[in-house]
Amino acid sequence: MSEKAKIYADVRKQIASVVAGETSVTARYATAACLLRDAFGARFFWTGFYVVDPLKPAELVVGPYQGTLGCLRIPFGRGVCGAAAATGETQLVTDVHAFPGHIACDSRSNSEIVVPVFDRAGTLVAVLDIDSTDFGAFDLEDKAGLEAICGDLLTA
Ligand code: SME
Repeated sequence: MSEKAKIYADVRKQIASVVAGETSVTARYATAACLLRDAFGARFFWTGFYVVDPLKPAELVVGPYQGTLGCLRIPFGRGVCGAAAATGETQLVTDVHAFPGHIACDSRSNSEIVVPVFDRAGTLVAVLDIDSTDFGAFDLEDKAGLEAICGDLLTA
């Protein structure tokens, strides 16, 4: 197992143990954002969740995060988060400036990964967005590690 895969496995266990029995989704997301940022440090410049707004089902609204000020709302289909929400698939973007419709909440972000979060019924409920100031900061190992964590978040 690579060093990075080991960190993901450890942080996944840590998150699961802190949120065990916790029914508040906000508490679960806040724990995941905090422990992920803590595990990966400055490489995770912005780490947090956009949740599907129950009042506007085609719009994401910012949830718990660690980092600089995030945009409050993102319509499905706009930018990287909106693409993840619209397609239900992880978006791995090595250069955000080349991504059509990218939303620059902080111009220092240069690459990004966005992972969808589903409930038990398989309905999209949120996306986990991680931005880095480095170009190409994320790879398939990040995708696998983050998808495993997101898979636990609402179903554990
Ligand atoms: N860059 C994102 C917007 C969210 S923030 O960067 C916090 C996007 O295009 O989806």
